[in-house]
Amino acid sequence: MNKPIVFTKESIKQAGEALSKGGLVAFPTETVYGLGADATNPQAIKKVFEAKGRPSDNPLIVHIKDPKDIEPYVNEVTSLHHQLMNQFWPGPLTIIFEMKNGAFDPIVTGGKSTVAFRMPDNEVALALLNENSFPLVGPSANKSGKPSPTSYEHVLNDYPKGEIDGVLKNSEPLTKIGIESTVVYPKKGQVFILRPGNITAQQLEDKGFTVTEMTPDDQLESGQILSPGVKYTHYSPEQPVYLIAYPKTIKEWRKVITQLSKDEKIGVLADESILKELDTNQIVSTYSLGQKGDIKEHTRRLFSGLRALEQTKATIIVAQGLKETQENHGFMNRLTKASNFVL
Ligand code: TXA
Ligand code: MG
Repeated sequence: MNKPIVFTKESIKQAGEALSKGGLVAFPTETVYGLGADATNPQAIKKVFEAKGRPSDNPLIVHIKDPKDIEPYVNEVTSLHHQLMNQFWPGPLTIIFEMKNGAFDPIVTGGKSTVAFRMPDNEVALALLNENSFPLVGPSANKSGKPSPTSYEHVLNDYPKGEIDGVLKNSEPLTKIGIESTVVYPKKGQVFILRPGNITAQQLEDKGFTVTEMTPDDQLESGQILSPGVKYTHYSPEQPVYLIAYPKTIKEWRKVITQLSKDEKIGVLADESILKELDTNQIVSTYSLGQKGDIKEHTRRLFSGLRALEQTKATIIVAQGLKETQENHGFMNRLTKASNFVL
């Protein structure tokens, strides 16, 4: 097997050709990198599941370049669906539709009668979608269980041996948002959030939608996991992650670090205001979440930080928890899932 090819804007045609031949090409979106394949080619999709090591009941998101592209595949576009698409596409909102019978192979939808669509807000992704007439599946381009990739280097790191054909480079070093889209199921006049993400419940409510967030427990209690992805382990680096719950004073931070450094080599993921106050002799590596309170930057750097610290000599990763607010919800949801301990 050959190493994956790194495609750029200039060689996007070749990336499109690889996809049309049933190949796998990872591509950037505004959230994280997706592992692209022709959504109408079951053989190609099979390779996506194999490359990722993904459980077969976990359905894929289908990416389109224009809201009209969903028409051949869906039964009914309700006015609620229309309103969501109008307000949030292109953008980090994945919307679930009732699928036209047999429109996609069951391998795409995990055997469900519904299908999830998203129109990404990233010019490189849209240009790639424009190369062919078929839509692209795009699960996050990490190996199953790992933090989602936010740079092309992250993708190469997960598929060093050519399990995928290539990766298309973003126009920036890191993707803009850094965590995945919000997955919603519009049903009976309500918008159910199946996976929290960049778009908050508050943002949906502000546009006039009635919103219910369904936690994995809610989904279990309702008798069916509506969004199978939420039940699997996620976002985990090799080392155990210790989440430092908000709020902690610098004094408390120092105490925790001193205690843990007796038995462990510590990598710290925190904002500048915390990093500059810690004793560097007790720490082997750090990754900055940016300036204190810059939640956009914290979110953008979260997965990148977990991946960077994973590559260091650290035996544990200590990560800064944020206050639970609407704006911080996506960050905290991902960090909590990545964590083994909360202090
Ligand atoms: O931001 C994102 O959404 C990224 C970028 C690449 O677009 N993609 C992504 O895909 O995060 P993935 O496969 O890692 O996560 C897809 C999530 C899973 O939790 C899956 O269970 C859910 O969407 N999902 C997909 N189709 C569904 C369906 N028909 N019904 C319910 N949940 C679905
Ligand atoms: Mg994923």
